Amino acid sequence: VAQVPVIGVGLIGCGTVGSGVVELLTTMQELYTRRTGKLIQLKRILVRDSAKAAKSLTGRFPSDQITNNPEAFFATPDMPIVIEVAGGKGVVADYVKKALTLRKHVITANKSLLAAEGSELFALARQNNVSIAFEASCGGGIPIMTALQFGLMSNSIQAVYGILNGTCNYILTEMVQKGKPYAVALKEAQEAGFAEADPTLDVSGRDAAQKLAVVASLAFGVDVTDSQVWSEGIDTLDSADIKFGSELGYTIKLLAIGERLDPPTADKPTRLSLRVHPTFVHNSLALAKVNSSFNALSVYGHATGQTLYYGRGAGRLPTASAVVSDLLNVASGWYPSAFSTMRLWCDHHEPVQTLDRAQLISRYYLRMFAKDVPGVMGRLSTILGDAGISISSILQHEIAIGQYVPLVVTTHQASQGQIRQAVTNMESSGVIDGKVTSIRILDLPQG
Ligand code: NDP
Ligand code: HSE
Repeated sequence: VAQVPVIGVGLIGCGTVGSGVVELLTTMQELYTRRTGKLIQLKRILVRDSAKAAKSLTGRFPSDQITNNPEAFFATPDMPIVIEVAGGKGVVADYVKKALTLRKHVITANKSLLAAEGSELFALARQNNVSIAFEASCGGGIPIMTALQFGLMSNSIQAVYGILNGTCNYILTEMVQKGKPYAVALKEAQEAGFAEADPTLDVSGRDAAQKLAVVASLAFGVDVTDSQVWSEGIDTLDSADIKFGSELGYTIKLLAIGERLDPPTADKPTRLSLRVHPTFVHNSLALAKVNSSFNALSVYGHATGQTLYYGRGAGRLPTASAVVSDLLNVASGWYPSAFSTMRLWCDHHEPVQTLDRAQLISRYYLRMFAKDVPGVMGRLSTILGDAGISISSILQHEIAIGQYVPLVVTTHQASQGQIRQAVTNMESSGVIDGKVTSIRILDLPQG
């Protein structure tokens, strides 16, 4: 039997994703050797609680190679690749930097770190003649990063629309399809291993914002951090709006949206609209049919028109699949070669300019409790008209005259500034009770 070269790998983190990585590496080794011509050998695992990890890996990995000592981990000989699936910044960021400085290739699922410090990390990798691969950082098992980096390289990307958080999509699906309360659905998503260690990151929209920053840097060729992506979460949604939206033919989704505002030119900075917010998606659109922990990214290339990437966006084996595919690409040598020669990553890109949210143009869903008496509809229409907003539809159920009744108005395109002005005037008009809820409606480009 011909000898194959052995490639040693270190693993930082052995929770949901890390344990999936160990499972793939131990059960699929023969296939991976055939595909890469290399024997991938997991040498050491670094966690905080080594006894816990040893127990969960009984029979799969030698417990004496699991450590909570970073010095011992980094001193492991013949370990040119490090996988980081611990998550977060702080000390984990230090581990990633240490691995790069020690000239180890890094594979990471950590969008929070990449979205904040991607540019510095890529530059550090390049200085040390190693690479960073990050397929698992967005979209779980869907090869979105590969598509954006390589498959669509011939395109100028005009826009991306994504369902990029499995936890939120699971929660919304359970609320819409089964009428489950928000808290119950969130707990189930946590138990399934979809949620972040701090699930506030998921439900606030920040996890999707971090992923959008990573996606946007590849799609639009810009240097962007997640602080430039504004977000609204699903944690304040009212189930009444989910119901009214459905009567109007819409499904609510947490969408991550990146849109190019001008045609690309060499001499002007790229301007983008980058945002994450609950959005009504018409049921006829493919994105409305992406349910549960599934994710999807719709990418508009100037030559391709729309392409759509769909699959499981979170969970143990789907995410481990992306990590291990990166590992095979790095171990085989082609990815490090591409990383060192191509200019696809944000350390090569110029900073981006982002649109102020008041200028964002969108269609809107507005819901309020209006007094059911003569003249109210005329009053509200006048307020919208005075703000330059055109009504697209009105929905009101019959109720006893004189009561406050839920009234839903959808609009044609308006700026957020116009909507804010109209909402303020409605709330002080004396004909509605309480606040007006506003939710954006998705309008996709043609093609
Ligand atoms: P878990 O919380 O399940 O596991 C985290 C693991 O990392 C644990 O083994 C933990 O060890 C270890 N760890 C955490 N901090 C440290 C540290 N400072 N030093 C050493 N080890 C540490 O997280 P997940 O597996 O769910 O997620 C890991 C990463 O993958 C995150 O970046 C996440 O965003 C990303 N990701 C997760 C997906 C998912 O579906 N879960 C999907 C896509 C990406 P210990 O238990 O000993 O504390
Ligand atoms: N918490 C993330 C999600 C994990 O729910 O999408 C996948 O990145």
